[in-house]
Amino acid sequence: MADQPTAPGAPNAPINSPHQTTTVTNQPDLIAAPQTEEEVCESSAGGPPGDGEDPNYDEDSYSSESDSAVGVDSVSSSNSITASIMEYRNIKGRTYHSAKHESKYFTPNDEQQMESQDITHHYLTVMLDDRLFLAPVPDNVKRVLDVGTGTGIWAIDMGDKYPDAEVIGTDLSPTQPLWVPPNVKFEIDDCTKEWTWPEGYFDFIHMRYLFGAISDWSELLHQAYRCCAPGGWVQSCECDIAMNSDDDTIRPESVIKTFWNPLWKELPEKLGVSFQVVEEGLQNKGFEEAGFVDITEVNYKLPIGGWPLDRKLAEIGQLTLLTLNNDIEGYTLIPWNVVYGEETPGYQETLAYMRREIRSRSTHAYMSIRYVYGRKP
Ligand SMILES: C[S@@+](CC[C@H](N)C(=O)[O-])C[C@H]1O[C@@H](n2cnc3c(N)ncnc32)[C@H](O)[C@@H]1O
Repeated sequence: MADQPTAPGAPNAPINSPHQTTTVTNQPDLIAAPQTEEEVCESSAGGPPGDGEDPNYDEDSYSSESDSAVGVDSVSSSNSITASIMEYRNIKGRTYHSAKHESKYFTPNDEQQMESQDITHHYLTVMLDDRLFLAPVPDNVKRVLDVGTGTGIWAIDMGDKYPDAEVIGTDLSPTQPLWVPPNVKFEIDDCTKEWTWPEGYFDFIHMRYLFGAISDWSELLHQAYRCCAPGGWVQSCECDIAMNSDDDTIRPESVIKTFWNPLWKELPEKLGVSFQVVEEGLQNKGFEEAGFVDITEVNYKLPIGGWPLDRKLAEIGQLTLLTLNNDIEGYTLIPWNVVYGEETPGYQETLAYMRREIRSRSTHAYMSIRYVYGRKP
């Protein structure tokens, strides 16, 4: 089997009775590597931007061009794309999904954001030791759905790895590449509307990074349950993007604490969707309420920057930093406008503080990732 049936560190993941959740936290300890004197001096929390240092600093040599769906003409294979779907909204030079959808989804659908999505796919794949999922999906999986597929990079990798499977990726925006494996197709679909797939159609339903997109997680997982075949699996991977540290290296005056973390707390009320999916346990609750069994939860700390001692975690941290640095505007433009108001000055300066703060090796920040998967009995 190409993708192992158990969570890492749980070689024979136990089969649970209904509604029991197995929780695995499997990672080397997130310990910071010792810093050089120079790095200690570089610590930048709270320092003013524009002091001669390039706030767009690129920490490492990773290129977002490899393993990427970026740069290829994008059209959906679905015939259902009407002109209005292509009429992207434009906000301060960034494009967003068509106003045809009722969704207020917060990140752009342009190339810059697509690059960040592809780097995200890369760091999550490194995190899972080159696997595409954790659920014990069998090798002969036939029908796979990727909900909110983004650039389609996960669906494309799935199609490559499982040539006998039919893989469908859905999204609000037709931002997926044209040239994909023959067993992969993309469709425009709003996953918060009633799913039109027949009952029991898919063997595996995959959802990743839908924070900020969903107002009712229980409903989403009910729909996934209905469309999953008996014996099939559904997996959800979410990230709480609030940043924490285990060693108090995010200081109280840090822009992470004064701007970044509060921003995401303000948004749910304003946008009607959750950004604290992990913290609020919404995945687990949804899986349990829908009726899944053998529910397994796997938690990771996602370091930001190459500061961890462990080599793999340092690599993941560099990629995470790259994702954020590449498009911190894309993640925060709508949130800023919604929370502070479009005309409020200081946005770009605040982003410059953020870039400096997260690239400092003295700041041992991480975000929280949770995988939850369950089987339909
Ligand atoms: C952060 S991206 C994640 C992309 C992909 N799942 C991945 O992990 O690489 C979130 C994606 O969800 C899509 N999305 C947001 N709301 C949606 C909805 N209601 N229905 C379908 N897709 C949605 C967005 O357009 C975006 O492409």
